[in-house]
Amino acid sequence: MKIILETERLYLREFLSSDGFHFYHLNNDKDVIKHTGNKAFKSLDEATNFIKKYSDYKQNGYGRWAVCLKDTNEFLGWCGLRFEESKNEVDLGFRFYKKHWGKGYATEAAKASIKYAFSILNIEEIVGRAYVENIASINVLKKCNLIFQNEFKYDHKLAVLYNLKNDSN
Ligand SMILES: CC(C)(COP(=O)(O)OP(=O)(O)OC[C@H]1O[C@@H](n2cnc3c(N)ncnc32)[C@H](O)[C@@H]1OP(=O)(O)O)[C@@H](O)C(=O)NCCC(=O)NCCS
Repeated sequence: MKIILETERLYLREFLSSDGFHFYHLNNDKDVIKHTGNKAFKSLDEATNFIKKYSDYKQNGYGRWAVCLKDTNEFLGWCGLRFEESKNEVDLGFRFYKKHWGKGYATEAAKASIKYAFSILNIEEIVGRAYVENIASINVLKKCNLIFQNEFKYDHKLAVLYNLKNDSN
C-alpha cells in the first residue's frame, strides 16, 4: 500500500485492485454520479478491471487517490489529480460515498491534494470543473481557494471552470 499524504483525519493512498468493490458501489449510486457524467459499472469485474488498468501513477507520477479514515482505515471515496493531455492541464476531482457527505472530508482531502501538487509535484496550475447544479462540488472548489474563470456548456448542461495557480512558481 502506497500512502501519498496524510491530513488530520485522513490518509490518501494509491488505489488497490480491491478498490474495484468501492468503485462499483460508488458509481452504482445514482445520487453520487448524478452530476459527474459517468455511468454505473456493469459489474464488479468491470470496476476491478478499471482499477487494474489505471495507469496514471506510472504515466504521470500522480493521479486520483483513495481517501481513507485514519482511525478505522475505512474507504470513504476518492480525491486527487488527473493530467488531461489534450488540454495540458491538471484537474482536481473528488467522489465520496453518500453516507460520508457533509463532514468536510472532500475539502480536507482536496486541500491536501493541492498542497501536494504545488509543493511536491511543482504543478503550476490546478483546474476544477463542475456542473452549475453541483453546489457541493463548487463549494469544495471555493473552499480550496480556486477562482471562478468562466461558464461553459458540457453535454448540453451549464458548467463552471475554476482554477488556482501555484504562486511559488
Ligand atoms: C462533491 C462532494 C465530493 C462533496 O463532498 P463533501 O465531503 O460532502 O464536501 P464537504 O463536506 O467538504 O463540503 C464542502 C462544502 O460544501 C457544502 N455542501 C456539501 N453538500 C452540499 C449540498 N448538497 N448543497 C450545498 N452545499 C453543500 C458543505 O456544507 C461545505 O461547506 P461548509 O463547510 O461551508 O459547510 C460529494 O458531494 C460527492 O461525492 N458528490 C458526488 C460526486 C461529485 O459530484 N463529484 C464532483 C464532480 S465535479
